[in-house]
Amino acid sequence: MSLRKIVVLGTGGTIAGTAASAEDNLGYTAAQIGVDRLLAAIPSLQGQQIESEQVAQIDSKDMDFEIWLRLAQRCAHWLAQEDTQGIVITHGTDTLEETAFFLQAVLSPGKPVVLTCAMRPATALVPDGPQNLLDAMAVARTPGAQGVVAVCAGKIHSALDVQKVHPYRLDAFSSGDAGVLGFVEEGAVRLLRAWPDAPAIKSPPALSAPHQWPRVDIVMSYAGVDASGVRAMIAQGAAGMVVACTGNGTLHHDLEAALLEAQAQGVQVVRATRCAEGRVLPGVADALPDARGLSPVKARIALMLALMT
Ligand code: SIN
Repeated sequence: MSLRKIVVLGTGGTIAGTAASAEDNLGYTAAQIGVDRLLAAIPSLQGQQIESEQVAQIDSKDMDFEIWLRLAQRCAHWLAQEDTQGIVITHGTDTLEETAFFLQAVLSPGKPVVLTCAMRPATALVPDGPQNLLDAMAVARTPGAQGVVAVCAGKIHSALDVQKVHPYRLDAFSSGDAGVLGFVEEGAVRLLRAWPDAPAIKSPPALSAPHQWPRVDIVMSYAGVDASGVRAMIAQGAAGMVVACTGNGTLHHDLEAALLEAQAQGVQVVRATRCAEGRVLPGVADALPDARGLSPVKARIALMLALMT
């Protein structure tokens, strides 16, 4: 076994959640148990080289830029230490894919940063968190592992592809067309694809104070949509907009007119697809650039970071 340390950063989520009854997998409160207690509940981790730190304690639906900045800074701090083998982050499932993409974009780590989570609270009769945490530790300890990945239900997903696709089942994540990176089976990693090694965006910016981060909003195209949402976002100071388009990047004509007007005023507009899988295939005459395969929430982060540079 490696003697180098794994750093576990706690941020809350259902993995740290508690319910009044062990049979209640829905009526719980997320982010109640500290990361130290989550680790202490797993016998095989005792005696291992592990440092832990509670970076936040939230339901991840409430994720914000301050926590993202702190998380990126704490990851950078620990990754720079020679004796750190990798980082595990306990996180809520709801915005896990956004945090994973953000961290890959700003850090592109040469060591593994493994986000893990749970769909059932820690007090459940059969909780999934301890196994997910154990699997994430195994991934972080795997020689050659690198980049930001997510581990849930025995599957390893890359930050670029991972998406929550189910609100209830334990295997709640998918990597869509790309497929999973690999599996964790009884503590062993079976890799199907290469670890993430490319930056998620071209030129990651130096991160300023969160109140200076540019505002980028998401708007969706749907039957009967009008321009009022776009106008309201511009009035709120949006510097960029991602539109979750129908199908292969098509837009309701009223929304398209409003977005072209926004673009003419200097707002950066990017088209993603609202389809769960696949990507917008660009055409030569596209007036609005496409999101290069990113989902709307990830395209928003990419645009926000691009606007910072
Ligand atoms: C959260 O995202 O923090 C709550 C939901 C979950 O972790 O499954």
